[in-house]
Amino acid sequence: MQNKITSLFNIQYPLIQAGMIWCSGWELASAVSNAGGLGIIGSGSMYPEILEEHIVKCKAATDKPFAVNLPMLYPNIEEHIQTIIRHNVPVVFTSAGNPKTYTARLKEQGIKVVHVVSSVKFAKKAEEAGVDAVVAEGFEAGGHNGRDETTTLCLIPMVAQEINIPLIAAGGIGTGRGMLAAMNLGADGVQIGSRFVATPESSAHEQFKNVVINAQEGDTILTLKELTPVRLIKNDFYRRIEQAYEDCATAEQLNELLGRGRAKKGMFEGDLVEGELEIGQISGLIREIKPAAEVVAEIITEYKQALADQNSAKYLF
Ligand SMILES: Cc1cc2nc3c(=O)[nH]c(=O)nc-3n(C[C@H](O)[C@H](O)[C@H](O)COP(=O)(O)O)c2cc1C
Repeated sequence: MQNKITSLFNIQYPLIQAGMIWCSGWELASAVSNAGGLGIIGSGSMYPEILEEHIVKCKAATDKPFAVNLPMLYPNIEEHIQTIIRHNVPVVFTSAGNPKTYTARLKEQGIKVVHVVSSVKFAKKAEEAGVDAVVAEGFEAGGHNGRDETTTLCLIPMVAQEINIPLIAAGGIGTGRGMLAAMNLGADGVQIGSRFVATPESSAHEQFKNVVINAQEGDTILTLKELTPVRLIKNDFYRRIEQAYEDCATAEQLNELLGRGRAKKGMFEGDLVEGELEIGQISGLIREIKPAAEVVAEIITEYKQALADQNSAKYLF
């Protein structure tokens, strides 16, 4: 399985475990990298010294490449960048900001840079900014999301025909068949978030993991578009948002309702009532908490089987 993505990152499979606040620390990232994918440490929920600790532990746990996700909204970003450079992290996935801001600086240090987008327009901007690859993330995805609501099925072929650099599909992928579908649409690899929340190595709270494996189709929704759009589980906290909308709340009132620390409360501390529980639509298909290496192996095995099926007469008509 050698392609543009495996060669770019020097990994075995074009399968990337997404950087996720409160869920993807060194344990998950190193487990995925050891299993042949690319593991990502989600730095958006870490103080600078915590990120440093996670990078050091990740390096001790794997000799394979791994990455750090850098959401550009993060207040201590300069310290994060210095830590990443000091520890020779080989790959950085930037998100939630302008790709021009840090790409040249990171690349000067020999770091591969990938930028996450949710539209064709921003994919082209990322390419212009000189990134090595783009992650195009569809509306199905867990966590913060684009405003345009473009689904992965539509976004990937549209981005694929507009850019010349490698393309990674994200949003709604949790199986080998999903991975093959994304590759058929023009992606060179996939970034998977929600599926890896339900692993023992993820730092998500046990209660949140149980919500994920019990979620049904229709249990998540994209909301708070006036602030930063986010896909989450429709729990009690969400129902308060819904009520606020019914009461015609202003953006300031929504911000007040959101307050601070909701994502930590829900995903890390396991408060299923008051917390924000970010997860993607694919949670309706996730039924088991299983080790990250098994998730990777299962997806790759299913991918190969699906590819064989596809190449067989079954698909001819
Ligand atoms: C719990 C959770 C936290 C996330 N946190 C981040 C983050 O900190 N930075 C980021 O760029 N994307 C974040 N995302 C989005 C993922 O990186 C990824 O693109 C997305 O999960 C892919 O869609 P999927 O959930 O359908 O697999 C998060 C997603 C989830 C589910």
